[in-house]
Amino acid sequence: MAEYVRIEDLGKHVDQEVELRGWLYNSRGSKKIQFLEIRDGSGIVQAIVGSRDVDEATFEAAKHLSQETALSIVGTVKEHPKRPGEYELGAKSFAVLAEPTEEYPITPKEHGVDFLMDHRHLWLRSKRQHAILRVRAEVVAAIRAYFDGNGFINVDAPIFTPNACEGTSTLFETDYHGDTAYLSQSGQLYMEAAAAALGKVYCMGPTFRAEKSKTRRHLAEFWMVEPEVAFMDLEGDMNLAEDFLVSIVARVLKNRAKELELLERDTSKLEMVKPPFPRIRYEEGIQLLQGKGIDKKIGDDFGGEDETIIAESFDRPVIVTHYPSAIKAFYMKRDPEDERWALGMDVLAPEGYGEIIGGGVREESLEVLDGRIREHGLPMEAFDWYRDLRKYGTFPHAGFGLGVERTVAWICGLKHVRETIPFPRMLNRLHP
Ligand code: 4AD
Ligand code: MG
Repeated sequence: MAEYVRIEDLGKHVDQEVELRGWLYNSRGSKKIQFLEIRDGSGIVQAIVGSRDVDEATFEAAKHLSQETALSIVGTVKEHPKRPGEYELGAKSFAVLAEPTEEYPITPKEHGVDFLMDHRHLWLRSKRQHAILRVRAEVVAAIRAYFDGNGFINVDAPIFTPNACEGTSTLFETDYHGDTAYLSQSGQLYMEAAAAALGKVYCMGPTFRAEKSKTRRHLAEFWMVEPEVAFMDLEGDMNLAEDFLVSIVARVLKNRAKELELLERDTSKLEMVKPPFPRIRYEEGIQLLQGKGIDKKIGDDFGGEDETIIAESFDRPVIVTHYPSAIKAFYMKRDPEDERWALGMDVLAPEGYGEIIGGGVREESLEVLDGRIREHGLPMEAFDWYRDLRKYGTFPHAGFGLGVERTVAWICGLKHVRETIPFPRMLNRLHP
């Protein structure tokens, strides 16, 4: 019996007879030879069925296999004659495990994005999607490795919450046994409690925004990683964000070079992601935009296009600080030197990707915080627990949130975030 192996391990079995199990990805052939591209999740390999190597019935059957047939195939592993490090299978026999009951809807021809999104559950079987999902998995692994390796404790934040963290306008509301609960917009408030308990913490999970935005950067459900650190100031927050991003990009470049190549990513741009990142104040961002003829004045928030323009002016991520307090969340501490500005920072990714990180220093005074909760029209009762953090040993602290999908879109060089998450949830999409 031939040993069952995965395609990624074929290199360990050169000249041996093995069994592969997978699906037919593509096939072509001539009178004497059939090339079957087989995928098994770990890779794709070409199996060569020669009319002289198999019996007639097998050869005939090979000609008529349809795309996505599940099969088991036995053959001898050979190194590719022209591409060292790549392998082929000289097929001896195969068994059909399951024939598709209908013609597979996704063919190698071009399909529109809506069609592909409607078939997202099948689209995931395509090469490009394999590459993107592998990069995403690598980014997630890099995030965890970074924090786990730097003294952070992973603390999970709840998804049902009574609190608005990032403002009330983008909350998904749900019935919670007769009470109102919201789907979490951010785990931050809980990470602040956890930072008071454990010092350096992070959470990573899905977060939800009922934004009516239909842009290439917005998902209704996206994954965010949020570190929070006791006794850290804005400078420390920026340094952490910088070191963290550098480590993620370096790890993806090292471990996912093949995937980036398949995605035709210009990796020289990613090689630039080294410290120090340029740091500018919001006001300089406004000046930069005005210098390019854009109608922006102090006090305006940056839109996606503005971020693109600012980010395009730098060859690596740029950190923007000191936004107007008026346009920032209730919890953000104001600059004691000039209260017009918030001690917040955003990191904008280069090549026009825009904001991938938002964060800053949190207001630690109960009195000031109460004022902000009122100003923002938030219900005081829902924040009683959060206010306790300012009552019992209040402490300076800061943190940030990184959007996983925007980061993956940037690293992969994708225009839109929709392909960076297995099953995107967007303004007009809740299916599949
Ligand atoms: O800037 P945001 O709203 O910051 C917060 O939620 C803070 N509470 C985080 C913190 O300090 N702990 O969101 C953080 C990041 C953004 O920079 C962006 O990368 C991503 O989350 N993000 C989105 N990604 C996809 N779709 C959306 N609708 C997103 N909204 C934010
Ligand atoms: Mg933000």
